[in-house]
Amino acid sequence: MVTPPRSVSDVRNFLLFWSKVEEPLAGDVPAEVVAHGAACADHLSNWHPHDLELSVAGLLHDVGLLLVPGDELGHPAHGADYARPLFGGRTADLIALHVNAQRYLELTVDGYRVKPPPTAAFAAQPSLMTVEEAAAFQKHPLFRFALELRRADDAASEPEARADAEGIARQVARLTSLVRSLQRQDAAVSKEYT
Ligand SMILES: [Fe+2]
Repeated sequence: MVTPPRSVSDVRNFLLFWSKVEEPLAGDVPAEVVAHGAACADHLSNWHPHDLELSVAGLLHDVGLLLVPGDELGHPAHGADYARPLFGGRTADLIALHVNAQRYLELTVDGYRVKPPPTAAFAAQPSLMTVEEAAAFQKHPLFRFALELRRADDAASEPEARADAEGIARQVARLTSLVRSLQRQDAAVSKEYT
């Protein structure tokens, strides 16, 4: 069970704390998880500069590994639970789907293989996607966005692709922009109904 953050400061402090921890946690190096997420978000904010939810999902897609260490299979759901209250359903669903996007590509793209995470030696790995699951996934409203997140995830998977402290700070700052934009949307909707 994941306790969601109460504010953007909670998330900022969480990310900045783990960004300095090089000691492995259930096989994952927290500093790498944070720097990898920021590098993934950097790609997404370059490719899709107006889709803040997509880049925040990129930043947070692997935080489940830090929230429930060692639960490799559960990490998309834990990350989604963490992100949902503050960053909204679309961001959370994109996080939840990132391993399904990997499973989809493994089924449909010849030779597609994700570099196993450091925990792979002792953690269960996601099962192969069935043809029926793939057909359902293609119809998901976030299908193409989930594949974009995966493309950025893969582009950020090499150790040398890790974001530096400045890159992490740049992406962490976007969390506030997303929360403000969601608040503006909420205010606009409630105004319509008053
Ligand atoms: Fe990743």
